[in-house]
Amino acid sequence: MPLRRTAVRAGRRLFTACLAGSLLACLPSCSGGGAQDSAGASAGASGLGDRLFPHAGNGGYDVTRYGLDLSYDPGSGRLSGTAVITATATQDLGSFDLDLAGLTVTRVAVDGRPARTGRSGTELSVRPAGTLRRGARFETTVAYAGVPRLLTDPDGSHEGWFRTDDGALALGEPVGSMAWFPGNDHPSDKAVLDLTMSVPTGLTAVSDGEPAGTRSGGGRTSFHWSSGAPVATYLATVAIGRFTVTRSRTPGGVPLYTAVDPRSDDPQTAAALRRMPEILDWESGLFGPYPFGSAGAIVDHIEGGRVGYALETQNRPVFPGDGEGAAVDVPTLVHELSHQWFGDSVTPRSWQDMWLNEGFATYAEWLWLEHSGGVPVARSAATAFDDPAAWAFPPAAPPGAADISAQPVYDRGALVLYELHQALGDTAFAKLLRGWPAAHAHGNASTADFTAYCAGLTTRDLTPLFATWLYGDAKPARL
Ligand code: TRP
Ligand code: ZN
Repeated sequence: MPLRRTAVRAGRRLFTACLAGSLLACLPSCSGGGAQDSAGASAGASGLGDRLFPHAGNGGYDVTRYGLDLSYDPGSGRLSGTAVITATATQDLGSFDLDLAGLTVTRVAVDGRPARTGRSGTELSVRPAGTLRRGARFETTVAYAGVPRLLTDPDGSHEGWFRTDDGALALGEPVGSMAWFPGNDHPSDKAVLDLTMSVPTGLTAVSDGEPAGTRSGGGRTSFHWSSGAPVATYLATVAIGRFTVTRSRTPGGVPLYTAVDPRSDDPQTAAALRRMPEILDWESGLFGPYPFGSAGAIVDHIEGGRVGYALETQNRPVFPGDGEGAAVDVPTLVHELSHQWFGDSVTPRSWQDMWLNEGFATYAEWLWLEHSGGVPVARSAATAFDDPAAWAFPPAAPPGAADISAQPVYDRGALVLYELHQALGDTAFAKLLRGWPAAHAHGNASTADFTAYCAGLTTRDLTPLFATWLYGDAKPARL
């Protein structure tokens, strides 16, 4: 089908020209990285220099844990609480930045001592009382509150914080986590996530990781979620609202926690979700053991197609339902669940490595179509190959920030895997599908890491294959 997915991707592409870069425009005061203070410590850079999102993330430290203790009031839309960010300094630091869009910061402390702060665009700069030495572990506490923002992406779609009629939904690809918590908002800095969300009793808060208990009192209930495995900020989510929660387990033993807004529980969605155990166990057979402590899904009702895409948020992908058609279909479920290996466990090092996510997830759909519907992978590959829209740019080199969700990233990305299957043969290709997620489990990987890994599976020279299919502009004569 991927009619819906295709429509969504095309929708994202329609807006290619607008807004590129404006979201993250660097203001004069956020230079960072250069000046040294009297102690010889410099400011951490205000961006990590990602080719497509240069201001995303920050330099000078590496986060190991986000402890978020938050409270949400659906009536006013106000979020408030504290973020405790545990990090290690990667240089002597006189000051450093966190990414945060909107919201009011009321107090910042580093290792318990008040710190000076400044705001500039989406940078929150923090100057601790003393210099942080390279290698030091430090804890930054940020108290904040406000009505979180909905952000507009370079391709015109929306992310960040969506208010719904019964709560809210946070989605963060590529740079939307900064709408609801301060952090190092770049895929290269993964960290454990521990979230407590207090909501009015009767509502449920669902997030990444595993449920770690609830506490009720005074008309409110706190939901505690703990990730265990590191999470890239763009894969962090929270959904607040009325949900029907189902807990089960796949025959292969993966615990499932699924939350469905009763208004999005149409028959096709229910039928697709019933196949989740089968899909997860099938994917585990192909890609190796499921990488996390639990799986599941979040199906949230959100009016008027305001989200327009599913997202592979860690442990439980989000599927928006607006009452127009089914919220979840089987191919999209296969796609988002495969991202748990490709994207969530093995996370791109930078945004131009996105094809490693979407190419594998699209290929997973092709494998599923063959497995369940008898449509040979070769037929899916031929269809993708024949579509002129797939050839707009090479999958490993999206020209701009608005292109990371465009069709070449998905379809040409999957064609790279199709070509590798031809070149490597069945046995080595099966090793690739299992071995690649194992080689970088819970870490980051770049396109160069991928081509090096493939080279290790064969005596053949794969350089021409990658030159053509990964980096080449020209459409080859044939598959
Ligand atoms: N990653 C999503 C998927 O394919 C699609 C998507 C949503 C996306 N938001 C994005 C892709 C932002 C790139 C950038 O399932
Ligand atoms: Zn995807």
